[in-house]
Amino acid sequence: MTGADPLRPAATGFGAKVGSFLFAHLPPVFGLLRWIWPVPHFGATWMLTRYDDVREGFLNDPAFMVPYKGKLDVIMGGVPFFLGMADTPEYRRDVGAMRAIVRPADIKDRLIPEMNKRAEAVVAGANGEIEVVDTLVRQLTFDVLNEYFGVFAPPGVDLRVWATRLFEFQFADQSNDPSLRKEVDQYAPGLLTLIDNLIAERRQSGADIDDVLGRALKAQAASPDPEAAGYSDKQIRSALIGFVAGGLPQPPMIAPQAMEQLLRRPDALAGAQDAARRDDDVALAGYVFEALRFDPLGPAMPRVLVEDVTVAQGTSRAVTIPKGATVYLSFMSAMRDPRRVADPDTFNPKRPSSDYIHFGMGLHQCFGIHINMALVPLMLKPLLRREGLRRKPGPDGHLAKRGPFADRLVVQYRP
Ligand code: HEM
Repeated sequence: MTGADPLRPAATGFGAKVGSFLFAHLPPVFGLLRWIWPVPHFGATWMLTRYDDVREGFLNDPAFMVPYKGKLDVIMGGVPFFLGMADTPEYRRDVGAMRAIVRPADIKDRLIPEMNKRAEAVVAGANGEIEVVDTLVRQLTFDVLNEYFGVFAPPGVDLRVWATRLFEFQFADQSNDPSLRKEVDQYAPGLLTLIDNLIAERRQSGADIDDVLGRALKAQAASPDPEAAGYSDKQIRSALIGFVAGGLPQPPMIAPQAMEQLLRRPDALAGAQDAARRDDDVALAGYVFEALRFDPLGPAMPRVLVEDVTVAQGTSRAVTIPKGATVYLSFMSAMRDPRRVADPDTFNPKRPSSDYIHFGMGLHQCFGIHINMALVPLMLKPLLRREGLRRKPGPDGHLAKRGPFADRLVVQYRP
């Protein structure tokens, strides 16, 4: 670790201020849009705001194509990663290869105990005051999951910085910022080489380590045609880069956002604390993912239409969106749509799972969904178990964001 900041300096100026004001006030804007203009568009950019339409977009993946391939190719050195693919045999091969080695049983047998142990140690070691975004959640996410994946950085490399920059480039760089691209042109080849080296070292050492990399290399050795099985060196490398750069920057966004929403609602906070103290992880997850409904990962996921599509066919809002349009599927808005989500402005930790779209839907639904649903609440659990949990007085005690990223939130508790 180099100690560098995983987040780039905050944007300044009038535009940035207007942007963050609008971002903070999206829920009422979406509320109005769902009512008076549910499928707004400006030129070739469209947005779906109602639950049914967002769901329709996610589930119609042949027409609503993910637009990620161009930037993924920059990150992966041109080797395809399944997030950028349509529903092809290659997609199924590569996802299937990873599903076979990222096993559901690992969550219970290995990841949950590891997260519980490490999260408790971090909170116990912090002695009554902790910064939630970096010191707690980012550290836990990168430590626990990189060990599971088998991805380790050599001295001088801070994977938290590399991964977060690549994530920003891929998902949050609408303006194609040249200064970010400069960093990406350094970190992307750096990560390719880092993983290539890990693969070569592991193979050479002959070490039998039961992590995702070790399992992938075993499957490769057992296969007469590793590429056809999804386990060539390059396929393994793309998957690991996708997990590290696409996945790991996200828990440090959402877990602190959930904590902030709980801190705003004393009853909900008390309920979450009670669940944490009773070791009722199902109830605890209910609180955390409900909290996140009020401030989810982001406003929307993008898609590009590969054909003309009539959305909401048979309704009075039916509209034909032309081929080539960019369509934003607003899962933030959908999760607040009273037509499908009962009492959406009420905090209810016992909602049906269908009320939530935190991890997308359909073909590209988050590969790590079950890992995340199990681990994210556990990152906050030791804090929630502590007596006297409260915001640190002053601005540090309120979640600050830098662009779409959670930046800083300091809480105190009785050690
Ligand atoms: C906990 C926070 C996370 C959230 C909220 C989240 C959310 C999402 C969402 C919304 C998508 C769908 C993108 C789209 O439809 O355009 C997605 C896809 C994906 N996520 Fe996550 N994710 C998280 C963490 C992770 C982690 C830790 C991993 C590591 C394994 C991961 C791996 C993936 C992959 C590989 C895909 C692409 C799946 C596919 O194309 O089939 N995610 N995630």
